Amino acid sequence: MSYLQIEKLKIGYGENIVLHGIDLAVAKGEMIALLGPSGCGKTTLLNALCGFIDVRSGNVAIDGRDITRLTPEQRNITMVFQSYALWPHFTVAQNIGYGLKVRRWKKDAIQQRVQELLKIVNLEGYADKKVTALSGGQRQRVALARALAIEPDVLVLDEPLSNLDAKVRLNVRHEIKALQKRLGFTSLIVTHDQQEALVMADRIAVLNHGRIEQIGTPEDIYHRPATPFVADFMGADNCITHPDAPNKTIWFRSSDVTLHGLPQPEASGLLLQGVVLESAFLGHQYRHSVRCDGHILLADSPQFRPANAPVVLHVPEPALHVFETAL
Ligand SMILES: Nc1ncnc2c1ncn2[C@@H]1O[C@H](COP(=O)(O)OP(=O)(O)O)[C@@H](O)[C@H]1O
Ligand SMILES: [Mg+2]
Repeated sequence: MSYLQIEKLKIGYGENIVLHGIDLAVAKGEMIALLGPSGCGKTTLLNALCGFIDVRSGNVAIDGRDITRLTPEQRNITMVFQSYALWPHFTVAQNIGYGLKVRRWKKDAIQQRVQELLKIVNLEGYADKKVTALSGGQRQRVALARALAIEPDVLVLDEPLSNLDAKVRLNVRHEIKALQKRLGFTSLIVTHDQQEALVMADRIAVLNHGRIEQIGTPEDIYHRPATPFVADFMGADNCITHPDAPNKTIWFRSSDVTLHGLPQPEASGLLLQGVVLESAFLGHQYRHSVRCDGHILLADSPQFRPANAPVVLHVPEPALHVFETAL
């Protein structure tokens, strides 16, 4: 049985319906990434789980208990924000202990719990520092510790890494994932970064215009996208129409293409002849744009091929994502 159960959740602002019936079942200890473009309703969904905005219809239950209409204080869900939302005039310990103080924990118990959490997020020795003296990565670890302090039923994180530098982001990404595995908390993490979702999540829900387009394991979403939108969003940067069926489109990644010279090699899958237009150096390889029939396609290759070189693109069968579209 699922632990967090979201059923037919519909939410809007005034006339504008933003979530059109979200169904999502999350197991205890599972981390779900909500992935989707800006404005698709990710933050709205988290806000609704926390009780910050009203639900038009549908239900949310945790462990079989309906929480749809409870106030934020009546539910045990905490949010970690992109902006950290720490109190700048408080110390690290005061920030982490804040939720416990609100819940009227005794001073000694708060102190002990704060020490535990400092250890968990690798900030031992920072208890009395002002949060303004910390780096972005450290601040986000304080915010995480504060959220975990009350042992929430569900932890929600809204783009928690987006304010961090690229390198710090990679580290904190792995830290959060390791913590989730170790402590076993149930969580929903919002991101618009597909790689972040792939690395962190047990399952990924791809949202588009307030609907879940696909939910599945990272491997499912990456290798077996269910719709053109998911294929495109997960990095299939090439799209052609099917030679034999104009209502079919074929999607594939530039990284799944092998470039050959003429003559055309014997191979199964997709073979297309074309001419190189230009190439860009990516570091580990070159990305060529190639004109094939009416399409301009992208193909990565370790070998540089000059403009006007005749080439053959080969894409193996499993890397092709074929969809039927309404004409
Ligand atoms: N407080 C609000 N009032 C009115 N419209 C809002 C409000 N918050 C978000 N929206 C609208 O709801 C849609 C979804 O927003 P949001 O949930 O923030 O998307 P995301 O987090 O995926 O970027 C957007 O079209 C946005 O303009
Ligand atoms: Mg958002």
